[in-house]
Amino acid sequence: MHSVLDRRQRRRVADEGVDRPAGGFLKERTGERDDGLRLVLLLILGIDYAVQPMCDVGYEQGEGALTPLGAVSDRGDQRRGGRCLVRDDQNSRRRHGALLGLSRTLIVPRDDPHDKLIALGAGDVAPYPRLRMSRIPINVSALVGRTPIVQLTRLAPDGVAVFGKIEASNPGGSVKDRIGVAMIEAAEAEGQIEPGRTTIVEATSGNTGIALAFVCAAKGYELVLKLPQGMSREREGLLRLFGARVEVVESLGGMNEAVSAARAMAEDRDVFLPDQFSNPANPEAHRRTTGPELWEQLDGRIDVLVAGVGTGGTITGAGEYLRHKNEKLKIVACEPQGSAVLGGRAPGPHRIQGIGAGFVPPVLNRDLLDEIIPVSDEAAIQTAQLCARREGLLVGLSCGAALWAALQVAQRPESAGARVAVVLPDSGERYVSLPFFAP
Ligand SMILES: Cc1ncc(COP(=O)(O)O)c(C=O)c1O
Repeated sequence: MHSVLDRRQRRRVADEGVDRPAGGFLKERTGERDDGLRLVLLLILGIDYAVQPMCDVGYEQGEGALTPLGAVSDRGDQRRGGRCLVRDDQNSRRRHGALLGLSRTLIVPRDDPHDKLIALGAGDVAPYPRLRMSRIPINVSALVGRTPIVQLTRLAPDGVAVFGKIEASNPGGSVKDRIGVAMIEAAEAEGQIEPGRTTIVEATSGNTGIALAFVCAAKGYELVLKLPQGMSREREGLLRLFGARVEVVESLGGMNEAVSAARAMAEDRDVFLPDQFSNPANPEAHRRTTGPELWEQLDGRIDVLVAGVGTGGTITGAGEYLRHKNEKLKIVACEPQGSAVLGGRAPGPHRIQGIGAGFVPPVLNRDLLDEIIPVSDEAAIQTAQLCARREGLLVGLSCGAALWAALQVAQRPESAGARVAVVLPDSGERYVSLPFFAP
């Protein structure tokens, strides 16, 4: 998410001199105090910054949470086209990232003679407008989120609008890119991990692994992934392409065994387990990005949210945000019929990769759920295939499950006139090698 201070806020900050306004920006009015503050920052924090006057700010917000940065530099780019690219610096980030929590990429157009950027506050959220956002991010993780949405008119029953949010459009190809970036950057901001020192280990059925793999590759972390047996070949291959070490763990179909193996490894020093099942950065990423995106894309008119539950991060984060916006919102989870643990049944094998972990995940807010719909493997597979044939949208197996559940809800008489949003976590391309999927 890219954001800028709105003009009114900038004025207020400028009028007050150095301040930390609601949006979290520490700004300084241009003038005599420049050198003093610069010196203070240099002495106290050791920050090498050089921000020109006459700047307005926008910054790249990654997963919706501000990400750490140490140094702010305007060298070079400012001369080109009146823009200033303020970029990350590894050393300063390590030393001061947690303290300052600065973002990684800043584009500073020189159109305002009054304000200049000094620093951003850790964990702060800037106002949403995406004006003057960075046109060309310097890190692929900045491209995560802001996925498109499409109305599925040929599958939906008459009189009900069903919208699919296409998470395959994320750079790593799935909804998990949101949390892959968020979990790593949250740990960096807390000073827990460092490239070259920390090995990241995670249990994942694939998509979180791919997300972590591209983030770790881009940031220079070693990554070990524990995969439950039976995941598709595409997933393993993709992980290895990003340089991750893949270790397949024998499993009954759920995630239990892979999770235990990852936990055991994380007992070593300098091994960090993001633990997507209990990491608060997981639902938080969806609270900050997926939920607001849906709200904005659907013009604040959304009656039902449907999502599958793997870790529960998507439905918890997006659901909490949207319920806060519309207290009448109905939130519907789906899970595999063969492992309907949320419905009180025993875990078991199933074919719907990405959902049905075999236990109730700690990040899931169960109180939020109005309904939990069990979906058979056949229904998930057939609906994913139907979506490709009827809508021209090639979606994965858990999309088929969520879509099937959404269509069940849409077909009920009480849904007449409703607007139903369904999160579609990844693409069908990821499952083409599974014989039961691609005909
Ligand atoms: C393909 C797929 N669908 C759905 C999900 C579920 O998302 P969440 O973990 O946010 O519940 C995942 C998570 O791994 C996934 O990979």
